[in-house]
Amino acid sequence: HPVRPMTASTTHGSTQRFTAARVRQDFLDFFAQRGHAIVPSSPVFPKDDPTLLFTNAGMNQFKDVFLGTGTRPYKRAADTQKCIRVSGKHNDLEEVGVDTYHHTFFEMLGNWSFGDYFKEDAITWAWTLLTEVWGLPKDRLWVTVFGGDENDGLPADVDAERIWLQKAGVYPKRVLRFGRKANFWEMGETGPCGPCTEIHFDRGGPGTNPMDGADPKHGVNTDDPRFKERFIELWNNVFMEFNRLDDGRLAKLPAQSVDTGMGFERILSVLQGKRSNYDTDLFTPIFARIEELSGR
Ligand code: GLY
Repeated sequence: HPVRPMTASTTHGSTQRFTAARVRQDFLDFFAQRGHAIVPSSPVFPKDDPTLLFTNAGMNQFKDVFLGTGTRPYKRAADTQKCIRVSGKHNDLEEVGVDTYHHTFFEMLGNWSFGDYFKEDAITWAWTLLTEVWGLPKDRLWVTVFGGDENDGLPADVDAERIWLQKAGVYPKRVLRFGRKANFWEMGETGPCGPCTEIHFDRGGPGTNPMDGADPKHGVNTDDPRFKERFIELWNNVFMEFNRLDDGRLAKLPAQSVDTGMGFERILSVLQGKRSNYDTDLFTPIFARIEELSGR
């Protein structure tokens, strides 16, 4: 399935249909329709958690539920979480201003299952939202799955791989295995963690032509400058099964859960057909006002 060149029909480019407010609401509505409680973002300063300086993911406010030390009156939740990633395990500071899609402060769309649904629903719902509700072309999407880790004694996530191929119907060559660094998500040095599967979008552009030697297969999770702006990770689905202990060992969590995080500014740039997050309607009104005030 060769990648089609970017044309008006393959870029979305519709800022009218895909306004920030509408996309955010689409996400929450989609998961509300599937039995999720819609909850508020937690503060960016985590409460009662000395392992974190700032909230780095939507799951932080549910850490106790994953660990089995706390409960909520629901088994499914979704929200849009204000995140800061400038320190600790998930530190994006060096990327900010270098590329067009990392931020110090950003919004993360997330859905969670607390011992309820697991891999199959998480994966097929993510695919349905992206390809059916929002209509992203399948030949621009790539997925990654956990390839296993010897040190942790963990096998490859063949279940996720099978679900992508058989239930979601992803093109087989577009399911790639990666190791612990890319596909085993951990909240911090300790805490809830598990294998994850990510969805990446190919924005096309330089390197799209296979004749130029740039094989898209090598574009996902790479530092190769030919691909940096072309492939972006949109959404991570974590299958929470373990707790990383102080001594580095993994303990089984009391239940199998789901923790997802989608970069709101990123999905918006893709849906609006913009090459940069800063060109979406989340940022342009702010820049316009600064221009107005500064006269520059
Ligand atoms: N908690 C999932 C993520 O931040 O990717």
